[in-house]
Amino acid sequence: MPNTLDNSFITNGPWKTGIFEGKVAFVTGGAGTICRVQTEALLLLGCKAAIVGRNKEKTELAAKEMSGLIQDPDSVLPISEVDVREFAQLERAVALTVEKFGRIDFVIAGAAGNFIAPFERLSPNAFKSVVSIDLLGSFNTAKACLPQLKQNKGSILFVSATFHYYGVPFQSHVGAAKAGIDALSNALAVELGVSGIRSNCIAPGAIDGTEGIARLSGTVSKDQMCSKIPLQRLGSTKDVANTTVFLFSDAAMYVTGTVHIVDGGMWHLGTHF
Ligand code: HXC
Repeated sequence: MPNTLDNSFITNGPWKTGIFEGKVAFVTGGAGTICRVQTEALLLLGCKAAIVGRNKEKTELAAKEMSGLIQDPDSVLPISEVDVREFAQLERAVALTVEKFGRIDFVIAGAAGNFIAPFERLSPNAFKSVVSIDLLGSFNTAKACLPQLKQNKGSILFVSATFHYYGVPFQSHVGAAKAGIDALSNALAVELGVSGIRSNCIAPGAIDGTEGIARLSGTVSKDQMCSKIPLQRLGSTKDVANTTVFLFSDAAMYVTGTVHIVDGGMWHLGTHF
């Protein structure tokens, strides 16, 4: 399954061309698999985007490839050497985005780190690293973008997970971090609603073609995975992109403080692979 979109996302999909014309997105982790396709969807619908990452080569290559999907290649700005654990680096990225595009309307706090590790072998520093990237990084992203979100009555989308709904083994670090992200998003929805800012989470399940699935596929076959999912298939990055478009669109203008689970119904079974 290709982890990229093309013009058929608009021509064959439910969305209307140009709905995000004049809007600007700021995406941490935008060169990664899921957030990259979320960003592609926004670009195809007329948005401009800054994709923010740690690695210069990876971020610039992703931006170049993404700009090939749209008519104006100048609509994608790569900003690299940004570690979301460092607030000052995010402030610099926000300043560069505003300098280039003049504003920020949509924020995706997507940068994340994870690995499979039994609690017994998880060092305090390993736990701290994941919580710092996922949770502190999400806080830093929201905080650095706040002036722009207030000015433009913007919308923020955190990338969560379902690990913390029922306890997934070897994922204590990321489960703790994602539970914190849900709590952060809910608090911001309530606190910043008065400023016209909406805050929501997307919780992807097993998404095909991602690093997470690749790490699992050594031990569990795709058929075994699909058999545990009510909709009987893995999710796609396009599934996450469609939910992203909905949450940023005017169709969701009264939707804030929610977690949208994109997992084919799997978490209801309270199981894991
Ligand atoms: C146990 C590990 C580990 C592993 C790193 N550590 N990898 N412990 N198992 N596989 C420990 C290190 O030993 C160290 O602890 C601490 O974590 C910090 O490691 P560093 O490499 O110094 O940290 P850093 O450079 O900040 O890297 C952060 C990272 C890294 C999260 C550890 O993997 C990263 O940057 N990843 C970004 C990309 C990524 O993770 N993508 C996955 C996205 S989601 P000590 O005590 O030795 O100092 C995903 C879902 C997976 O993949 C789902 C699986 C089901």
